Amino acid sequence: MESIDWKSLGFGYSKTDYNVRSWFRNGAWGELEVSDSEMLNIHMAATSLHYGQEAFEGLKAFRGKDGKIRVFRMIENAKRMRHSARGIMMAEVPDSLFTEAVKKAVLLNERFVPPYESGASLYIRPLLIGTGAQIGVKPADEYLFMIFVMPVGPYFKEGFKPTDLVIYREYDRAAPLGTGTFKVGGNYAASLVSGHKAHENGFSAVLYLDAKEKKYLDECGPANFFGIKQNKYVTPKSTSILPSITNMSLRQLAKDMGMEVEERPIPAEELAEFDEIGACGTAAVISPIKRVFDADLNKEYIYGNEPGKISVKLYEKLRGIQYGTEEDIHGWTDIIE
Ligand code: PLP
Ligand code: COI
Repeated sequence: MESIDWKSLGFGYSKTDYNVRSWFRNGAWGELEVSDSEMLNIHMAATSLHYGQEAFEGLKAFRGKDGKIRVFRMIENAKRMRHSARGIMMAEVPDSLFTEAVKKAVLLNERFVPPYESGASLYIRPLLIGTGAQIGVKPADEYLFMIFVMPVGPYFKEGFKPTDLVIYREYDRAAPLGTGTFKVGGNYAASLVSGHKAHENGFSAVLYLDAKEKKYLDECGPANFFGIKQNKYVTPKSTSILPSITNMSLRQLAKDMGMEVEERPIPAEELAEFDEIGACGTAAVISPIKRVFDADLNKEYIYGNEPGKISVKLYEKLRGIQYGTEEDIHGWTDIIE
């Protein structure tokens, strides 16, 4: 077996042994199939290729200090994938098929689940695509659901070190009442140009404003936004952001820590009032922010060069539950065996 340098893993594709697949044909999902191929053989007129009938998910499995493998909140990812499927008229994957596929994909690739000490994890990527041929703008009648996995390190190369975000008003990620709450490929295509510009200029991600009024904070590239103000955890309420499972978990952990939680529109100027801010998501975990640069107003908001103390507490609690070193009082993890 090739040896993996677990500690220096970044967030990127790497080949593992197997993936699992199920086809939706004639109105029903088929048995899960195991494949060792990285390729798909699909029709050139598949709706996923032309009209964006495509949704994906992202979740992680962690090897605990006790050696056990825990998957974090997979039922929430199953539900969100059904929400995305409804949003763009695809066949919904039943929760039982989703969770069976996650377990199978993890177990078949168990040798790629990073060791506890590395701080790395196994990223699980479910994918749902329209495979039926259609040239009129209509939903497909055939779909493929599959899951592949890969060992990953931090999404932002800085890991838990604070990074800079940028606000650009000339780009939007998703429209209010559009597809922003669905985890569909089109939203990510829409973010590529602005994301590239942000990276070229030394920022880790774009902090998008709401597309209608350009007044409120939406989300940060591939992650939700949160701010800490005295004893409050504040996060945007918006019809154009992805309902993040990490954010949902942090809201609960903040309440457990005795903090107040507010989900409401956050005007961009309120950035001046936060003690700490961060980006949160499965890939990003918690990524603390040290500066937001508003490129149009040439204005900057500065936070500490070190992660804030509430962000550290939330991060440690969340990671502890994921690695099994903190009690999982909310029943968020499933042990895979
Ligand atoms: N927002 C966007 C646009 C994302 O792609 C992600 C990643 O999944 C998130 C937020 C965070 O969501 P979650 O915490 O469920 O991974
Ligand atoms: C995730 O956090 O799982 C994501 O999907 C972010 C990104 C890789 C798209």
